[in-house]
Amino acid sequence: MEVYSEKQQITAALDAVKAENKTVGLVPTMGALHDGHLELVKRALVENDQVVVSIFVNPTQFDNKDDLEKYPRTLETDVALLEAISAQRIMVYAPSVNDVYDGQLIAQKFDFDGLEFEMEGKFRSGHFDGVGTIVKRLFEIIKPNRAYFGEKDFQQLAIIKKMVEKHDMPIIIVPCAIYRELNGLAMSSRNVRLKPEYKEAAPFIYKTLTSAKEKFGTESAVGVVEWVENQFSTHPLLNLEYFIIADENTLKTITEKEKQKKYRAFIAVYADDIRLIDNIALN
Ligand code: PAJ
Repeated sequence: MEVYSEKQQITAALDAVKAENKTVGLVPTMGALHDGHLELVKRALVENDQVVVSIFVNPTQFDNKDDLEKYPRTLETDVALLEAISAQRIMVYAPSVNDVYDGQLIAQKFDFDGLEFEMEGKFRSGHFDGVGTIVKRLFEIIKPNRAYFGEKDFQQLAIIKKMVEKHDMPIIIVPCAIYRELNGLAMSSRNVRLKPEYKEAAPFIYKTLTSAKEKFGTESAVGVVEWVENQFSTHPLLNLEYFIIADENTLKTITEKEKQKKYRAFIAVYADDIRLIDNIALN
C-alpha cells in the first residue's frame, strides 16, 4: 500500500487511476483510526474502484491548543489497519502541514447558511471554517467521485453537504451511520485518552440519548431537555456542555414539535478534560 506525503505524488498516481475510468472514493480522517473510520473505508471500497484515506491532524479546526497537541498520532498502526483491509485498492495521503496548506496555515471564511452558528459552532469558535478549509483543499487535490463522512459528526456532515451544494462541486457526499462500542459509546479517536473510570462512565451518554428518544415520543421537547439536564446534574464524572433537540435540516434548536419534521438530539459532554459528542435521530 502506498503512503503519500506529497500532493504531487498522489495526484500523479490518481491521474493514472482516473485515466482508466476508475472511480475514486475519499475518506478524510485525522488518523488514530478505529472501527468507526474503518466502516467508512469498507463502504468506500464497495462503492469505488480506488479509495484514498487522508490522515491529517488539521491545526486550523482546533480552537484548543492543548487538544491539538494531545490528539493521538499513530500513522504506523493506521497504515497497518488499512493494509489489512485492502493493500491493493487503498492509498494513504498523510501530508505535512506545508504540503496541504502551501505554507499558509490559515482558515478560509465560509458561509454555511447559518449551520455553522449552531451547537459546535457556538462552543468551538472557528472550528467549521477550519473543517471547510481542509476538506475543500482535500477535494481539490484528490478530486474524488464520492467522499464519506460519519453521522457521528452530524453538523460537520451537514456543513460539507452545504459546501458541495453552494460551490457546485461534482462530488457525492455519502453519510455513514454512527459506529459504537458494544456498550453504546460512539467510537472516537479521543476515547483512547479516557482514564478507566471515565471510560466506564462514558456509555451513560448514549444510554441517556436512547431514553431521551423514547421520552420524545410522549413528552414535550422542553421536558426532554430538562430531564436530560437533570440526569447529568447529579453525575459525579460526566459534565454536560449541551443537550439540544434540533431540526435535522436547519440544525436550529426547537422548543415545540411540528408534524412532518425530522428531529435529532445532540449532546456534548466532558469526561475529565476530554470532550465527547454524540447524537441520535428522534423520529
Ligand atoms: P475524524 O474525527 O478522524 O473523523 C473522520 C471521519 O470519521 C468523520 O467523517 C467522522 O464523522 C467519522 N467517524 C468518526 N467516528 C465515527 C463513528 N464512531 N462512527 C461513524 N463515523 C465516525 O472528522 C474529522 O476527522 C475531521 O474533522 C476531518 C473531516 C478529517 C477534517 O479534518
